[in-house]
Amino acid sequence: MPGPDLDFWQQRFSQRQTPWDRGAPGPQIARWIADGTLGPGLSIAVPGCGSGHDVLALAEAGCAVTAIDYAEEALTLTRECLSAAGATAELVRADVLAWQPTQPFDAIYEQTCWCALYPDHWQAYARQLRHWLRPGGRLLVLAMQCQRPGAAEGRIEGPPYHMDIQMLRALLPSTDWAWPAPPYERVPHPIGWVELAIVLTRR
Ligand SMILES: C[S@@+](CC[C@H](N)C(=O)[O-])C[C@H]1O[C@@H](n2cnc3c(N)ncnc32)[C@H](O)[C@@H]1O
Repeated sequence: MPGPDLDFWQQRFSQRQTPWDRGAPGPQIARWIADGTLGPGLSIAVPGCGSGHDVLALAEAGCAVTAIDYAEEALTLTRECLSAAGATAELVRADVLAWQPTQPFDAIYEQTCWCALYPDHWQAYARQLRHWLRPGGRLLVLAMQCQRPGAAEGRIEGPPYHMDIQMLRALLPSTDWAWPAPPYERVPHPIGWVELAIVLTRR
């Protein structure tokens, strides 16, 4: 299968080549806490948690966080981040395309894991996200907008891979998900692109 694999991500962490890492929580988390989308008591999954800044912010907001990543170094950094702040979360070393929780979650915070997966995996990942959530649960997506010139010639360039909004509508159809009406908040990302912040509700 083409695209980045576990070795790719492990190397990125061990060589500290992590340009996606804000070194701080994503700014949309504070907005979602302020408007009540996120709050105490919520069980929430963070797939592809990376170095764990978002995990910490969600744990500090009172959420019961389960952080999933298949790169050991990512989980080590997340553990350090939590322990420096005296916070806790469940850390799971697993492939997001295979792992299943024992209980469905109230919410999923999807920050830069989807766009790290090669598009061949997107259908399977969309199915996973649906299985992980309880009915009425919320999928909080930061959809990376990074279409490059090669797309006009059919090239697939990434990671990050462009999360086309029409493709997302096809993968998360409105028969299965309640979509809010656009326009969606545009959140700048440190790698130079923007993300669309979208809260979908699982039907
Ligand atoms: C671009 S990084 C984003 C990290 C973090 N969410 C952030 O925004 O800083 C992608 C993360 O997803 C993880 N990842 C990629 N594919 C994965 C898979 N199939 N299963 C589990 N983790 C995966 C990588 O190890 C990496 O930590």
